[in-house]
Amino acid sequence: MTINCKTQSACEFVTESEIASSIEQHYEQLIQLRSGRDEDRDFLGWLSVSEEPLDRIKVEAARIQQLAQVLIVIGIGGSNRTTVAVHQALSRNLKGPTSLFFAGDTLSQTRLEDALSLIEEKSVALNVIAKDFNTVEPGLAFRMLRSAMKKKYGHSYTKRIVVTGSEGEGQLCELAKREGYTFLSFPRDVGGRFSAFTEVSLFPLCVADVDIDSFLKGAKATQRQLRSEDPKTNPAIRYAVFRDLIRKKGIQIESLVTFEPDLQDFVRWWIQLFAETEGKTEQVLFPVGFSYSEDLHAVGQYVQQGPKILLETFLNLHYTQKPRIIENSAEDDGFTYLDGKRFSLLNETVYKAALAAHSKGGVPCIELISDEPIHAETLGSLCYFFLFSVYCSASLLGVNPFDQNGVEAYKRAMYRDLGKRGY
Ligand code: PA5
Repeated sequence: MTINCKTQSACEFVTESEIASSIEQHYEQLIQLRSGRDEDRDFLGWLSVSEEPLDRIKVEAARIQQLAQVLIVIGIGGSNRTTVAVHQALSRNLKGPTSLFFAGDTLSQTRLEDALSLIEEKSVALNVIAKDFNTVEPGLAFRMLRSAMKKKYGHSYTKRIVVTGSEGEGQLCELAKREGYTFLSFPRDVGGRFSAFTEVSLFPLCVADVDIDSFLKGAKATQRQLRSEDPKTNPAIRYAVFRDLIRKKGIQIESLVTFEPDLQDFVRWWIQLFAETEGKTEQVLFPVGFSYSEDLHAVGQYVQQGPKILLETFLNLHYTQKPRIIENSAEDDGFTYLDGKRFSLLNETVYKAALAAHSKGGVPCIELISDEPIHAETLGSLCYFFLFSVYCSASLLGVNPFDQNGVEAYKRAMYRDLGKRGY
């Protein structure tokens, strides 16, 4: 599968020759990024997708499928968004015995009660995921849910707990060893939002019956392409360079728009990835996302005629559809101009119409076009594409892609108010 980054519709804002000369100017830096910069070495475990066999993950996933109707996945931020995104995008074709429920991504008691009710009503297993085991949301959800599991299943509850965490002191792995839970390793050199191709996402996706071999196959193919293709034509580099040029022209927001509602969690994954990786300076695009055509009836007016602060990135990615023809109607409902047309033509047409109208209205619009429909392999490719492009984009911006110190400020205030020692 390949992704084409098409910037023609935005050529009034950023010309092809500006992109070429920026690539020329940053050529050495971009070549280094393809192999990974030395200073980033400790965080680049994701750059070469692991070739290790998936046997352990598959065996554990099959065991959980035998035991549980529902796997409650406890994790937050980068550490759970890939699973949520891929699961939503593929869920209509998943036929496995075990469904996923997400917890530990909020402090809402209502959501906790939902998870506790599930434990009462269904046969359940837990997968808690935490790189550093000190985030309150997953930490407390795990405490409350494992207590309910203990009450329901007695000593044997331990068989129903799979822990994905870092090795070392004070970490989940100590608790797992002590209590006898299954332990999967959160690789040391991979941060939460870069964890798409590790145990963090692969285990729960495998339990949900996602074809993780295909997901990784897509990632590896795109890795081979992006890490060998010349920066001048490399689509992920072109996307990163375009973002860099457009922000320097005063654009402040990037909106990723999709045309399949089941990609909304994928868009949230993309928002988390770009916001937490790049949001460390004032001169940066704020990532937002919308689902068209629905949101054309919500934000379309603002996009068309509001302040020109927005880059719109159209993600051209769809499901394969069996042909469905719009039948003639016995009643005159005013839509006869659509009689006999393919239903999918409507979504194709609104894509082109929104792109044309917004471009004409003065909004820089670019397209990321997939040559394959949505399936596990395409999503693997696309996740790798964005991981690689955000690495390049953050580096052009001059920020460290792998930290997120800004998140600590609210945590410090919260810890102080909750009485945590040392705050
Ligand atoms: O992308 C990231 O690194 C973060 O969003 C983390 O995933 C998130 O803060 C959760 O961290 P942890 O897995 O340590 O609980």
